[in-house]
Amino acid sequence: MKFLKGALIVLVACMFFFCEGAGGPGEVEVLHWWTSGGEAAAVAVLKEMLEEEGHTWKDFAVAGGGGDQAMTVLKSRAVAGNPPAAAQVKGPQIQLWGDEGVLTNLDDVAQAEKWDELVPKVVADIMKYQGHWVAVPVNVHRINWMWCNPEVFKKAGAKIPTTWAEFEDACKKIQAAGMIPVAWGGQPWQEATVFEIIVAGVGGTDFYKKALVDADPAALNSPTMVEVLKTFKMIKQYTDPGAPGRDWNLATAMVIKGEAGMQFMGDWAKGEFTAAGKVPNTDYVAAVAPGTSKQFIFNIDSFIMFKVQAKNEAAQKAMARLILQPKFQEVFNINKGSIPVRMGMPEGPFDAPARLAMKDFSETSKTGGLIPSMAHEMAVMPAIRGAIMDVVTNFYNSDLSAEDAAAQLADAVKAAK
Ligand code: GAL
Repeated sequence: MKFLKGALIVLVACMFFFCEGAGGPGEVEVLHWWTSGGEAAAVAVLKEMLEEEGHTWKDFAVAGGGGDQAMTVLKSRAVAGNPPAAAQVKGPQIQLWGDEGVLTNLDDVAQAEKWDELVPKVVADIMKYQGHWVAVPVNVHRINWMWCNPEVFKKAGAKIPTTWAEFEDACKKIQAAGMIPVAWGGQPWQEATVFEIIVAGVGGTDFYKKALVDADPAALNSPTMVEVLKTFKMIKQYTDPGAPGRDWNLATAMVIKGEAGMQFMGDWAKGEFTAAGKVPNTDYVAAVAPGTSKQFIFNIDSFIMFKVQAKNEAAQKAMARLILQPKFQEVFNINKGSIPVRMGMPEGPFDAPARLAMKDFSETSKTGGLIPSMAHEMAVMPAIRGAIMDVVTNFYNSDLSAEDAAAQLADAVKAAK
């Protein structure tokens, strides 16, 4: 009797736990860096969908494009033993968090929702640690875009460039007409973004892979890299004195307002045009960056999930589930400027640049032109990315020669490996 009574208490306690704990409404604290107009509109969709299911969204936004500040904050929260339920973490870094043993295994959600059938294998592999799902992919961004204001080009009598020589010609004309050719955000991650576009556009796909994926010192310190660096530095004379420290979305606003002709940036910039009510190929032109029409530098956003108290498990898993649902994939990506990571989504609701990205994503995945972004944490481990970015930014902002910078790139990467 005594034994039975005890068992009953345990059973009732378990039921209570299940209803009020693991299965019921809970809270998800979400760390992200989506604070610009377009980004905030996109992330609001996830919050709304989670709240519709009765859960609470605790926003943990850390401003700073590219996410470097957010990653610093995440590490300190994790070291203090108090990580958020979900955090925007990408690429090879997911493995480092997996090594810490702090991530929630999402295999149950993945199996129920058939994630392995919904996302490309190359994406699924990034999201898994030792074969288990620990992260949820959100979208696919393309990096190698050039956002242009056609009015500025028209006033200057310039044409939207497809080669670096045409680019320089257009810059000269825009400058002569009294406008700023290139809207530049002088922050290391933004400079690295333009740099990698030029590595692809000047060096080509194989060179990009050797230099920025394999971090091969011979490619980093090579005549091709010297040419890349010279092209990169050439742009500086076509930027304005306000560039240092400027946030990426403020640079986008310069193009939107017609103060500047163009900006090199991933397609989250499109989210800013959309949020401002601008129409592609009318109010602005989304051109693939010079020399990169056969390439797709990809950047996939994802959330890792940390182990949470039982009472918040259902909320956390609901968030994971919602991210790959068609409704979220459509509305979020339209606002964000990216394309769905879920395969088989109808193209109808998406605009022309997104459709071009969808086509190029699929084509480059067959031709080999689909290459991971170094600047956006998809290609190399953080230490190597940091080493490359330090040299690139120092080169851009000093009198260092291209030859010396190329040698420094190789040395810095060797030291970081
Ligand atoms: C990228 C991120 C994008 C966008 C951008 C600017 O690293 O993948 O989603 O937010 O930074 O903040």
